[in-house]
Amino acid sequence: MKGERESLALRRPSFAYRAARSGKSELFCEAVALESLAARHGTPLYVYSAAMIRARLDAFARAFRPIPHTLCYSVKANSTLAILRLVAGEGVGFDVVSGGELQRVFRASPKGAGKVVFSGVGKTAAELEFALRSGILLFNAESASELKLLSATAARLKKRAAIAIRVNPDVSAKTHPYISTGLHQHKFGVPIPEARTLYALAAQQPYLTVAGVSVHIGSQITNMGTFQEALGRVADLVRRLRRQGHDIRYVDAGGGLGISYEGAQGNFEEQIAAYARAVLTPLRGLNVHLLLEPGRAIVGAAGVLLARVLYRKTNRRKRFLIVDAGMNDLLRPSLYSAYHEIVSVRRKSHETEITDVVGPICETGDFFARDRKLPLVDEGDLLAILDVGAYGSVLGSNYNTRGRAAEVLVDGTRAKVIRRRESFEDQMRMENP
Ligand code: LLP
Repeated sequence: MKGERESLALRRPSFAYRAARSGKSELFCEAVALESLAARHGTPLYVYSAAMIRARLDAFARAFRPIPHTLCYSVKANSTLAILRLVAGEGVGFDVVSGGELQRVFRASPKGAGKVVFSGVGKTAAELEFALRSGILLFNAESASELKLLSATAARLKKRAAIAIRVNPDVSAKTHPYISTGLHQHKFGVPIPEARTLYALAAQQPYLTVAGVSVHIGSQITNMGTFQEALGRVADLVRRLRRQGHDIRYVDAGGGLGISYEGAQGNFEEQIAAYARAVLTPLRGLNVHLLLEPGRAIVGAAGVLLARVLYRKTNRRKRFLIVDAGMNDLLRPSLYSAYHEIVSVRRKSHETEITDVVGPICETGDFFARDRKLPLVDEGDLLAILDVGAYGSVLGSNYNTRGRAAEVLVDGTRAKVIRRRESFEDQMRMENP
């Protein structure tokens, strides 16, 4: 096994072992000991590093400096209001996929509409109307029917809508099939030949302004060639549309940049530079304003989930650490067989064991690690599940009538509860016996 020190390299300096008050080595988030947060706020507990989120936004801005661009943070990755406020404070816009996400954005950034793009295959009439009234930057339309509804709604409200067609470039993202979106058998986007017809149609609508071309081929993509290929097809389409007289000002390159869940493999600066090259090379000379919709790359590595070991258990020779977090708190391992590194918050022993780490939920799929080599820990010890800042808390549920976990944002020496733990009464409030 890699030593825990080494395995944390990519999350430094935000997450690192340091000598705690006790003199023992403990995992910290910035200047705050995770053990102290767990003692104070209970577990399971999501903890985020503000410094890492700012650093990632900054790295994006630097990598894309050669081209006029707007970062539209993908709200779905982590939509807790305080995170959205932090992101908005850095001057960043948002990518939303529902009316609810748009409302969240306005709570966090009341005047933020001018930097919002609205994506998604199933926008309802009410959602389109809300976005139109708010005056967002761009609608990424995904079908002829959606375009028709948008045009009719815009005409009724006498509000102009700037549109891009989200094209489906038929490029394989080479990622998990559930989060791969760029092949024609996926529900997303419009194949490029059909998109050309839609642009011609849109240009005839009095309240639609053809403004861009959009693409998003999937998530957790680590093969940069796939971005380059998709953007190459987008660039060809932009040239063709311009020849036909369309004023294409924006290319929306979507999100999808993957992170290294398995520990130290290069550093983020190098990854983002390679990503920027892949996106920018095909757009060279095109003179467009680039929109980017990163989610995971901004917040993924900035969050950990703290869980306490409730019980140790051995069935024949198979070992289990039963922790107090479950698949309702963090679904990624169950849903995608996703790998998340797990470390012990206090470093007590150099001894290791091969064990499963599982939750209390009544499903065999309720696991965080299987046959994993981990340091030997006791009942009552605290574990940190790493890289859960994206698609962690947002995928939480009340399965088994468990309240959703609390969330804490650390900024230097300060730690703020940004979402309190959900109580039983919170859950009951919705029901009508
Ligand atoms: N833009 C669009 C249109 C998207 O559909 C997505 C993600 C993004 C941007 C942001 O992608 P990112 O930069 O975060 O890769 N729950 C899954 C991931 C689902 C991604 C959905 N769409 C997971 O836990 O891996």
